[in-house]
Amino acid sequence: MGRDTILILDFGGQYKQLIARRVRACQVYCEILPYTTPLSVLRDRSPRGIILTGGPSSVYDPASPSCDRRLFSLGVPVLGICYGSQLMAHLLGGEGQPAPFSEYGRTELTVDASDSPLFEDVPRHAECWMSHTDRIAALPAGFRITAHTANCPVAAMEDQNRRLFATQFHPEVEHTPQGADMLRRFVRDVCGCRGDWHMASFVEEQIPVLRKRVREGRVLLALSGGVDSSVTAALLSRAVGKQLICVFVDHGLMRKDEGRQVKAVFGPEGGFDLNYIHVDARDRFYDALEGVADPEKKRRIIGEQFIRVFEETAKSLGTVEFLAQGTIYPDVVESGAGSGGATIKSHHNVGGLPEHLTFSGLIEPLRLLFKDEVRALGAELGLPRELLYRQPFPGPGLGVRIMGAITPEKVRIVQEADAIFQEELRRFGIDTGKGQFFAALTDMRSVGVMGDHRTYDCAVVLRAVLTSDFMTATAARLPYELLEAAMNRIVNTVPGVNRVLYDLTSKPPATIELE
Ligand code: XMP
Repeated sequence: MGRDTILILDFGGQYKQLIARRVRACQVYCEILPYTTPLSVLRDRSPRGIILTGGPSSVYDPASPSCDRRLFSLGVPVLGICYGSQLMAHLLGGEGQPAPFSEYGRTELTVDASDSPLFEDVPRHAECWMSHTDRIAALPAGFRITAHTANCPVAAMEDQNRRLFATQFHPEVEHTPQGADMLRRFVRDVCGCRGDWHMASFVEEQIPVLRKRVREGRVLLALSGGVDSSVTAALLSRAVGKQLICVFVDHGLMRKDEGRQVKAVFGPEGGFDLNYIHVDARDRFYDALEGVADPEKKRRIIGEQFIRVFEETAKSLGTVEFLAQGTIYPDVVESGAGSGGATIKSHHNVGGLPEHLTFSGLIEPLRLLFKDEVRALGAELGLPRELLYRQPFPGPGLGVRIMGAITPEKVRIVQEADAIFQEELRRFGIDTGKGQFFAALTDMRSVGVMGDHRTYDCAVVLRAVLTSDFMTATAARLPYELLEAAMNRIVNTVPGVNRVLYDLTSKPPATIELE
């Protein structure tokens, strides 16, 4: 028997990934497909259930996205959410209309049918998250109302015989406190999914697939030391062993000891069966960056140098059939590729990949996984926790954390200061998984006094921001004692630094990195 699958038809809703993550959290595999996916394709995938997402359109607009009405007669349970609920009503002969009042945000929900499979154990008065301007005005035949709100008479409806369910509200968002349970009941109880999606079975399933694809060929992977490329390496190593060649380019802009850590895990002394090539390109990067102060120029140089080094290494290996990449599901969904063709992602960790290197195939074994699943997979494959929960690090590395021109001396300063800051964060038990916490080097020099000497040295800035999407961020309220301890250690032990500043600015108006 194949794996239980839920298909999520995307009508342009901003929460589609959230729906998918909630379903996966129930150990149920799901995929997001465009609403234009033909019915025959949906049927051939033998889904256990289908979820229709929200979307910005109105079902009365003739140009609005729709789906084949026969979707509701496949005999498969369907859950329509927001726009998806109106579409279900519309296509099945119900009626919708613009609501007299739009509802946005937290709203009180009254459950009318406590025997509904979705609302089992939900109190009669609960909270839900609404975001709509249209509403269902007349139910399609066979449906009953299962919940309402003050301004929305049909906040939820269902036809239990046909196993069709709809919610005007969004069960997938945190602000619907029982929403995750509602989705769990839909996928596990209504659709009957067994909960067979976990990383141990993913490994078992992927290994023969990868072996069959690679056969006797070789696979090249640019290992950055980040989570995605490391987990890709670990999985491929399990599948094809020494046929995997991992190239780690040390551009000299890594955090302290990072290059050594990557080598310790994936190099000859590490526990993985693969070919590991460690390219020490530090001098080459420093030479190319000499005297360059403009942030965008620095980014470009780092990206270009990376490509050159990678390309030269690849050429020296002769013919390599496959290129592997650590592309993950959010990249796939955001690029609009859906479940379709393989596109090389443009925002690669290490600044883009050589376009004219030719490979007969691209291998992206994580392209169906969310970040938390990638971490769980890495743990399953034996990667150390420190590596899996590492803070995000920009491709150009410390290059964008050193303001102005880069020198090896400045790199050393920022590496040492950052290592001290990380130690103090750990000592104070700060959860750095909630954002980005690092030291950077300003291009400011100022006068200080050490002993009886005047100094004219650099200022290090500590940056600690809380964010989940990296689009907006606020400065973390770190304990004063932590900041003081970090400051003391940095000025006392890192030569060349006589001031430590803490950056309080949120994003916007500032960015997370200093450059
Ligand atoms: P900003 O500084 O734009 O950072 O607020 C947002 C997120 O993006 C990361 N970042 C980069 N990542 N190449 C990358 O791969 C870059 O050039 C780059 N610049 C910023 C940054 O670390 C943060 O997570």
